[in-house]
Amino acid sequence: MKQTWEQVDEYITDLLCPNDPILDDVLTANRKADLPEIDVTANQGKLLQLLVQMKGAKRVLEIGTLGGYSTIWMARGLPADGKIITLELDSHHADVAKANIAHAGLEHMIEVRTGDALGQLAMMAEEEMEPFDLIFIDADKPNNPHYLNWALQFSRPGTVIIGDNVIREGEIINKHSTDPRIQGVRKFNEMITGNPKISATAIQTVGSKGYDGFMIGIVKG
Ligand code: SAH
Ligand code: DHB
Ligand code: MG
Repeated sequence: MKQTWEQVDEYITDLLCPNDPILDDVLTANRKADLPEIDVTANQGKLLQLLVQMKGAKRVLEIGTLGGYSTIWMARGLPADGKIITLELDSHHADVAKANIAHAGLEHMIEVRTGDALGQLAMMAEEEMEPFDLIFIDADKPNNPHYLNWALQFSRPGTVIIGDNVIREGEIINKHSTDPRIQGVRKFNEMITGNPKISATAIQTVGSKGYDGFMIGIVKG
């Protein structure tokens, strides 16, 4: 099936998001710099961009930058005075992301903060940072429950919260999984569905990066 998924992803990408030399350059730079090949796919990046636009988001928080591929997709959906703060533990990843963001001409909109996201989020709370309109959680999965709590802290009614990689080839339904990433995402999913302040769903996805999925929710008033 993977081959069909890849071919259909190519078909969709060619139709809906063709010929984007900058985004192609970003992926080339990420592979050249030996970053793991775990950026969202082009059509998923486009989905994130559309969600930013549908929400009319001005302030976006991303947890897990890698080379900034998803960041750039989202930034391009923001108005001219929009802003993204993106958090990345690995300084090599952050350096590659900063170069990619400069290449895309988006330095004025994107702030990459380097360091452990939990520490960064605590610092942002100390700075009394304003809430965000959309929050994309895509870093180390064992910490997903903590990231959800921080996301709620930086939310207001109407904030959209998105979690990547919530299906993991269906392994997510294995309650006995010994993989801390699976357990982190299981707890995250349960916290979301158990929280009366969030209305959410999860969507399974297949494509060139395999079988996985997104959690998408909105914070209620
Ligand atoms: N959103 C990116 C992919 C992110 S991959 C895209 O789609 O293009 C996950 C990233 O989270 C990796 O770069 C990894 O270094 C980073 N990460 C892992 N643990 C982290 C932590 N504790 N704090 C911040 N970032 C972390
Ligand atoms: C992994 C992380 C991701 O964010 C992703 O989209 C795919 C895989 C991983 O750590 O394996
Ligand atoms: Mg991911």
